[in-house]
Amino acid sequence: MSPAAAIQNILDGGGDLPVLPEMAGRILEEIRSPDASAARLAEFVKKDPVLASSVLRVANSALYGGRIEITDLAYAMTRIGLNQVRNLVMATLLRSRMADPEVYGPRGPMLMDHCLAVAFGAQLVADATGQPTDEAFLCGLLHDFGKLALVKALREARGLRQGELPEEDLALVDVHHPAAGGMLAEEWGLPEIVALVTRQHHRLEHAQEAQAMTAVVAFADGMAHRLGLGVAPKDDLDLAAHPAVAIIRLPQATIDDLLENLPGLCEIAGAALKGTPQG
Ligand SMILES: [Fe+2]
Ligand SMILES: [Fe+2]
Repeated sequence: MSPAAAIQNILDGGGDLPVLPEMAGRILEEIRSPDASAARLAEFVKKDPVLASSVLRVANSALYGGRIEITDLAYAMTRIGLNQVRNLVMATLLRSRMADPEVYGPRGPMLMDHCLAVAFGAQLVADATGQPTDEAFLCGLLHDFGKLALVKALREARGLRQGELPEEDLALVDVHHPAAGGMLAEEWGLPEIVALVTRQHHRLEHAQEAQAMTAVVAFADGMAHRLGLGVAPKDDLDLAAHPAVAIIRLPQATIDDLLENLPGLCEIAGAALKGTPQG
């Protein structure tokens, strides 16, 4: 199959999309149910010790500012909230299972770091502009996942096991990743807004629905590019001129604060998710 045909196949719904890790699927299902409970969710999470210790570590980290050490998983979940647990589970599982260079190429791990940075960035921007922070995190996390889906399909089409895809393929990934990411979000049963924002994140000016949330994620993406989080830094990127600023009204002082806070937040979150001790 040619690279262009492999992409078309994905966009037509005929290709193999990356599979949502089983544990993440079960947790999403539990959280969607009307009687979701922290106790039942804790039972699921306990079955994966790495995941369980990751949730505890994050709940105890500076992100949540707790002074008393939490050792009980169900209690940790009530402290940070069920939606936040869903987000951390998604981030932890996707990070550990979807950065395989044989499947996603040498840039897979960087792409995952970029998605995490945009997730935490979107959470900060949402908090500063009165948008729902849990949703912002999930939309930010998934915004470039279409790239992973397309890179996987293209590597399979070319029978590539190591090394990078040719430039012409990467250009196709750049063009088509919002559509592929939207399909992935639907396939995984994520809240509707995730697919919507993912599809619109590079054409904010044409966003019809969820314009404010799309602006939150597009701006967080801009911050990650400016700061070089999982991508090459663009020092001259003028964020005050970003089209999101007119939609979610970000004064210069807020932009400066966000730029100052995001790298530290990514560091704390990255360490907590990876399991390296925090200094
Ligand atoms: Fe993108
Ligand atoms: Fe991005």
